[in-house]
Amino acid sequence: MTKIRLENISKYYGNVVAVDDVSFEVRKGEFFAILGPSGCGKTTTLRIIAGFEVPDIGRVYFDDEDVTFVKPYKRNTAMVFQNYALWPHMTVYENVAYGLKLRKKELNLTDADIDRMVKEALELVRLSGLENRYPLQLSGGQQQRVALARALVVRPRALLLDEPLSNLDAKLRIEMREELKKLQRSLNLTTIYVTHDQLEAMSLSDRIAVLNKGRLMQVGTPQELYFRPKNLFVADFLGRSNIYSGEVVAKGEGYVEVKLEDSDLIVRGVTPFENIPKKVAVIIRPEIIRLGEGGDDMDVSVRGVVDFAMFIGDKVEARLKIGKISMLIYLPNTYNIRLGDEVKLTLPWRNIVVIPSD
Ligand SMILES: Nc1ncnc2c1ncn2[C@@H]1O[C@H](COP(=O)(O)OP(=O)(O)O)[C@@H](O)[C@H]1O
Ligand SMILES: [Mg+2]
Repeated sequence: MTKIRLENISKYYGNVVAVDDVSFEVRKGEFFAILGPSGCGKTTTLRIIAGFEVPDIGRVYFDDEDVTFVKPYKRNTAMVFQNYALWPHMTVYENVAYGLKLRKKELNLTDADIDRMVKEALELVRLSGLENRYPLQLSGGQQQRVALARALVVRPRALLLDEPLSNLDAKLRIEMREELKKLQRSLNLTTIYVTHDQLEAMSLSDRIAVLNKGRLMQVGTPQELYFRPKNLFVADFLGRSNIYSGEVVAKGEGYVEVKLEDSDLIVRGVTPFENIPKKVAVIIRPEIIRLGEGGDDMDVSVRGVVDFAMFIGDKVEARLKIGKISMLIYLPNTYNIRLGDEVKLTLPWRNIVVIPSD
């Protein structure tokens, strides 16, 4: 188990700033995700951790040892890619054994050691019995497991995964997600998982680093990022949010009161900022909005008119017009809703987050 620390990492490709002054620490045995849209610098950051790239500025530490200029093979991390990168002419067994055979002398291994380690790795990913198949004779999920076994067999200090489930169909992706999480738990292996998929990051990770345009936006547990986003990017990228601009009109014990732009509506919410400026953004997640009136004295009740509604199985998604603003809400899937219906809502202040507008 290794602790990994990035300190003020920047990486440039010509004029492109791929990674811009990023610092974070991954704890021993932690499942840590790097999350962000395509092109935000996730792969570059992972490659810097693996040692395939050297940063232009900054330092990488493994357990307080500076490894910034240490060669990849000496760092002993293992990487798994989106496209598996299996050798098509080798069997499952040979694919997994390959890395060990290369380092047989260095690691002082006998053939019997290698055989045992390969079999153990295949058992871990539940591929025992398929040793003699070739990659093309396997499903996508099985190929991804071979790639995982190949990474685990070298007993890496850290497992680095770059969008490893992206090529699988939706259902299999969810199954593999669960499997991966269980496997990581049982091995207690420091794992860094790169993905653009916020659900994947939230469901797998102990903590997440959100990147945007090479910059670190926020690091935290899935709950911290989801319930207490520190900026608009994080609020918008994780889950779904109604986001409104507004102006602070009053502050009280633990709450702020905000008048929404283009609206008479005044809502109350909480803020993670001590000195919240006047110009703010209000984040109201659809699932916190309650149907009907009532609740806390501080909660605000509103009425809206249904502008759009969509049955999506487990719920109904609807858009309400409240004066000039529009609000996404969720309704029970049995709710019989028609366009033009009037709906009363309560906005629970404790779940509404107010942050500075960017
Ligand atoms: N080898 C390279 N040469 C030039 N530009 C690159 C190279 N690798 C990445 N980039 C650029 O750096 C930025 C970040 O890329 P990348 O780390 O691959 O993002 P992500 O993995 O989040 O999609 C992008 O603008 C990309 O085009
Ligand atoms: Mg990438």
